[in-house]
Amino acid sequence: MHEVKAVVAKALKEPVSLETILVPDPGPGEALVKVQACGVCHTDLHYREGGINDEFPFLLGHEASGIVEAVGDDVTSVAPGDFVVLNWRAVCGDCRACDRGEPQYCFATHNATQKMTLLDGTPLSPALGIGAFAEKTLVAAGQCTKVDPEARPAAVGLLGCGVMAGIGAAINTGGVTRGKSVAVIGCGGVGVAAIAGSALAGAKTIIAVDIDDKKLETAVKLGATHTVNSSETDAVEAIQALTGGFGADVVIEAVGRPETWKQAFYARDLAGTVVLVGVPTPDMKIPEIPLADVFGRGGSLKSSWYGDCLPSRDFPMLVDLYTQGRLDLDAFVTEEIGIDGVEAAFDRMHQGDVLRSVVVFS
Ligand code: APR
Ligand code: ZN
Ligand code: ZN
Repeated sequence: MHEVKAVVAKALKEPVSLETILVPDPGPGEALVKVQACGVCHTDLHYREGGINDEFPFLLGHEASGIVEAVGDDVTSVAPGDFVVLNWRAVCGDCRACDRGEPQYCFATHNATQKMTLLDGTPLSPALGIGAFAEKTLVAAGQCTKVDPEARPAAVGLLGCGVMAGIGAAINTGGVTRGKSVAVIGCGGVGVAAIAGSALAGAKTIIAVDIDDKKLETAVKLGATHTVNSSETDAVEAIQALTGGFGADVVIEAVGRPETWKQAFYARDLAGTVVLVGVPTPDMKIPEIPLADVFGRGGSLKSSWYGDCLPSRDFPMLVDLYTQGRLDLDAFVTEEIGIDGVEAAFDRMHQGDVLRSVVVFS
């Protein structure tokens, strides 16, 4: 058993607190990870605000990298000393999706079986089955993906969630390839990652759309070829004008709202693809659209879950592109903070000048 410091959301809408927690030694199929860095993501805040479920107390943090400290007796995929990025989709290998050779859609991903607890024994619910705002965390061994140990922990840990979601929305879900035109609506961490992914894949035109000029400036740094401030200009018309009057081949919605999804629907070319990677709230409805438009425009309307990534395939590849200087993951790290800075980072998230605050452990 290990006693470590961790960021816990004890009650609905209450500020998070720094607690001492108990982390068990790894049992079969598990790994104990000494966390090096963990990004602050909207989903952590959603847990605290009751938007996910009410299984308080939550151990927050899930975009992380670290060093494996110990593994269960039967674990062979990773070993103590390995530098890993944590993922929240450890594939099972034998569900319907895995059986048909599509493990990126695995329907039975797993987490550690033993519980981390508060000192009084209260079990913690780790955010997305990870819980990495902690000096050490316990995960399923399959949640550890080994990557190049030379990489900067704060930068590559972000592949564990939002940045992978964005890059994957473009490359895996949207099928962006060389020469295509792409529009990305919403240029926060996820949207900007979709822009970086589109640039990596060789898209010819990459249109960034946001209502905030600061976000558009960052989007240009990550590869956007054009920008549209949709609080001033009609997004659909602007995207059409920048694509020969037709619309983009792929439009990625990275806000998670009905009205921006509707813009995405109409801003794509005939036979184009819409990718929804922004996360809607339960009260939102698909906007009213004539069914004849759905039929007549052809193409596909997709959602992207975690960028439809396969961590074992995508994490090491993207880390290598990063270390080669071809994918600027450093650009996503706005600031490095201490473990006591999470509540303040939640506040800054709303002000809009942060892509990611990253907790770094010494
Ligand atoms: N049109 C265009 N852009 C918008 C609009 C709008 N109507 N409303 C908000 N935005 C922009 C914001 O200005 C911001 O830049 O969308 C961006 C959202 O970014 P973040 O709040 O930083 O969120 P991010 O981390 O990128 O996640 C995007 O995916 O993971 C989910 O819950 C997350 O739904 C959210 C989405
Ligand atoms: Zn499976
Ligand atoms: Zn996240």
